[in-house]
Amino acid sequence: MNGYDLSVLRAEFGDLLYFFEELDSTNERSLLLGKEGVSHGSVVITERQLAGRGRRGAAWFSGEGAGLAFSIVLRPEMERALWPRLSLVAGMAVARSIESVGLFPEIKWPNDVLVGGRKVCGILVEAEDDFVVVGIGLNVGEASLPDDLARIATSLEGEGGTGKSREEHLIDTVRGFLSLAKLVEGEFGVLVEMIRSRCALSGKQIEFLVGQEERRGICEGVGEGGDLLVREGAVLQRYFAADQIRVVG
Ligand code: BTN
Repeated sequence: MNGYDLSVLRAEFGDLLYFFEELDSTNERSLLLGKEGVSHGSVVITERQLAGRGRRGAAWFSGEGAGLAFSIVLRPEMERALWPRLSLVAGMAVARSIESVGLFPEIKWPNDVLVGGRKVCGILVEAEDDFVVVGIGLNVGEASLPDDLARIATSLEGEGGTGKSREEHLIDTVRGFLSLAKLVEGEFGVLVEMIRSRCALSGKQIEFLVGQEERRGICEGVGEGGDLLVREGAVLQRYFAADQIRVVG
C-alpha cells in the first residue's frame, strides 16, 4: 500500500492541510474543526476512513491506499440560499479531474460521478450556520469492493484511467472547486451548461424520492437554477432536492 506523499500535499495546501492517518469520517472531523474556527479552504484528509458517511445515512467505503476521502471547509461569502449549488460545483470539479486521465465521466444529478455507468465518486455536503463542509470520496485505485458495491461502483484505474496519483486528483479537484465556485453567483449558467453536457439522466425514465414520496418521470436535464427537470405526464416538474434516483426501464 502506498500512503500519501505529505510533502506534496503540504506544498499545495500549507497550513490549510489537516491530515490524519485514521479518522471515522473527514466530514465529521471537518464539522468539528469548522466549529473551532478553521479557515476557509481547509482540507481534511485521511488514509483510513473507518466510518465514511454517505447521503441519507448510508455508509461510504474507501479502500486504504486506493480511495481518496477528503472534505473541504468553506466559509462562503455568497448568500446562504446559494450554498446548495456548491454540491454541483463539487461534482463538476471531480469530473474535470477525471477527464484529464482520458475518461468520460457523467454527472448523475445532483453530484454522483459515474464512469461507464458505475459510480466512482460520492459527495456529501453538510451545512452549519456559518460554514459548509463539502466531502468527496473518489475511487482512484482498484480496491476489492464489498460484493454489494461491486455491481454499482467502479474505480478510475478499473476503468483504465491510470497515470494520475491520488495527490494529483486531490489538488486538481480542490483547485477546480475553488475556481468553479466563483461561477455560483454571477455566471451560474456557465456551470449549468458544463453539467448538462455530462448529465447521466437526460432522456431517461427515472424513479426517485422527494422526502418519503416516490416519483417517476422522464428526465429532461438540468434547469437554469441547477434543478432537475422531470416530465411527469403533461407537467414539467423542477426539483431542487431528490434522493435515491435510479434509471428504470
Ligand atoms: C454518497 O454518495 O452517498 C456520498 C458519499 C460521500 C463520501 C465522502 S468520503 C469523504 C467525506 N467523508 C465522509 O464521511 N463522507 C464524505
